[in-house]
Amino acid sequence: LRDEVLQVLEQVNDPQQLNDVRVKYLGKKGALTEVLRGMGSLSAEERPVIGQVANDVRSAIEAVIEAKQQQFQQQETERRLQQETIDVTLPGRRLPAGAVHPLSKVQQEIEDVFIGMGYSIAEGPEVETDYYNFEALNLPKDHPARDMQDSFYITEDILMRTHTSPVQVRTMKAMNGKTPVKIICPGRVYRRDDDDATHSFQFNQIEGLVIGKNIRMSDLKGTLLQFVQELFGKQTQIRLRPSFFPFTEPSAEVDVTCVQCGGHGCRMCKQSGWLEILGCGMVHPRVLEMGGYDPNEVSGFAFGLGVERIALLKYGIDDIRAFYTNDLRFLSQFARM
Ligand code: PHE
Repeated sequence: LRDEVLQVLEQVNDPQQLNDVRVKYLGKKGALTEVLRGMGSLSAEERPVIGQVANDVRSAIEAVIEAKQQQFQQQETERRLQQETIDVTLPGRRLPAGAVHPLSKVQQEIEDVFIGMGYSIAEGPEVETDYYNFEALNLPKDHPARDMQDSFYITEDILMRTHTSPVQVRTMKAMNGKTPVKIICPGRVYRRDDDDATHSFQFNQIEGLVIGKNIRMSDLKGTLLQFVQELFGKQTQIRLRPSFFPFTEPSAEVDVTCVQCGGHGCRMCKQSGWLEILGCGMVHPRVLEMGGYDPNEVSGFAFGLGVERIALLKYGIDDIRAFYTNDLRFLSQFARM
């Protein structure tokens, strides 16, 4: 029996077979168990002898089974190690990378230029009171100039801000008459406009405010020249055209030499060589007063620009809606710029 089992075990080469053999010979109905069970019918002298032999056979078989089992386990471990090996020299898979939105990019660039000139950034609420959005900016109720900025009203007294100028008022009041004030206010603004290639009911502005002793129009002009040259290049020139804003006096509209043709005339600048980029002026004495400053002691300038407009010009884009429709074919072009 022992030789038979050992020979059978020789052939075994997987755990399932091994188990079958174990059951066949050592199990409850196994061949060896039969032998042990038959012991009762043996004589007193035979019993220990046969018992000894049977136990030896059992131990021998068990030892082989044990050894086989270990061998199988070892093989299994090696197989798994092999299979789960990680090749650390393989290059990693690239994750799809996003890109900064062109509007954010332009906004950050503009912010960087002014931070470089010592400005701080001020922010305020997009839902404003009539007082901060209009009244304190010298735009009393029923003033015809309110029509320049058609508004989304929430109640009679609360509206979506139409410009970031209310942040300037809030900043002046918070300063308690102290100078200098030197801030830019970036943020979303809202106007009741029908959306088309050049208009959006919601867009982004950056406005600037400087208040101090002896701040003059030449400071404004120098600041804006420095700004556009950093943004569009050293060759860029500006010109100021008289204009009107209720909160500045005098007021001006600022043009830059065309970023496309450099001023010779092209389609972008409609052959004029100039592109309008922002509004500005000297802070109106009444606005200074309402902000808590004495117009006889201090003066200031302010300017306001649309981020979308600058981005359109800078990248030669002809439809403002491209910024909002989130077409990845459009947006991904700015990933490497
Ligand atoms: N607040 C003006 C606008 O939104 C822009 C502006 C700001 C003009 C400051 C002059 C001075 O149209």
